[in-house]
Amino acid sequence: MKLLTEEEKNGVYKAIFNRRDIRSFLKTPIPDEKLYALLEAAHSAPSVGFMQPWNFIIIQKEETKQALAKIVEKERRALAIHFEGTNRELTFLDLKIAGILEAPVTICVTCNPFSAGDHVLGRNSIPETDIMSTSCAIQNMWLAAYAEGLAMGWVSFYKKSDVRSLLNIPYHIDPIALLSVGYTEHYPDRPLLEIHQWEKRQQLENMIFNDQWKDS
Ligand SMILES: Cc1cc2nc3c(=O)[nH]c(=O)nc-3n(C[C@H](O)[C@H](O)[C@H](O)COP(=O)(O)O)c2cc1C
Repeated sequence: MKLLTEEEKNGVYKAIFNRRDIRSFLKTPIPDEKLYALLEAAHSAPSVGFMQPWNFIIIQKEETKQALAKIVEKERRALAIHFEGTNRELTFLDLKIAGILEAPVTICVTCNPFSAGDHVLGRNSIPETDIMSTSCAIQNMWLAAYAEGLAMGWVSFYKKSDVRSLLNIPYHIDPIALLSVGYTEHYPDRPLLEIHQWEKRQQLENMIFNDQWKDS
């Protein structure tokens, strides 16, 4: 194992603790080599049976972004019904949940459950490990974006069928995430949902059990 210097170690933790989900972007283009660095970071993620189930669709065309934004807005309105008449209705309607139109690039990350055939080491016991692996790739990309001075926002408000038909994705491939990437002038030091008093970070101590599950 190659040990990190104290400074490098602090850098890793700094990225982990300060990375944020961002929904406001500048139109400034992203240099190709930076975009590629994010994809390399994603592709270096662990995956069950080393199946590497991910693909990355890089979306930069204005008309595709507009169509994606419509799909997301449709889903946001559908979800808003669930908060109607509750004390969260106004907060939900106020929340910005995507920056697809502003961000210069949106990356659709997909997961192919069959990328390594029917029998993938470790996946037969827990089929969701393909999606778990893809999530590892996304987190790598998120941290790399932070390291590159780029902001990233994960958008999951959409019907998979809508995204499949817009991006020509075959029915057996899962569009796992829409990731907006770009520069920003607003990089908060706390989660936006915490700032908007939607949710707060739980006490770590309450998440840790010893030896067995403990009901609170
Ligand atoms: C699987 C997943 C899906 C998410 N989907 C959305 C989304 O659709 N819209 C959004 O605004 N944020 C989305 N987020 C971001 C979370 O709201 C955010 O990570 C959380 O509030 C904590 O904030 P932080 O990432 O800045 O620490 C998603 C995050 C994850 C991990």
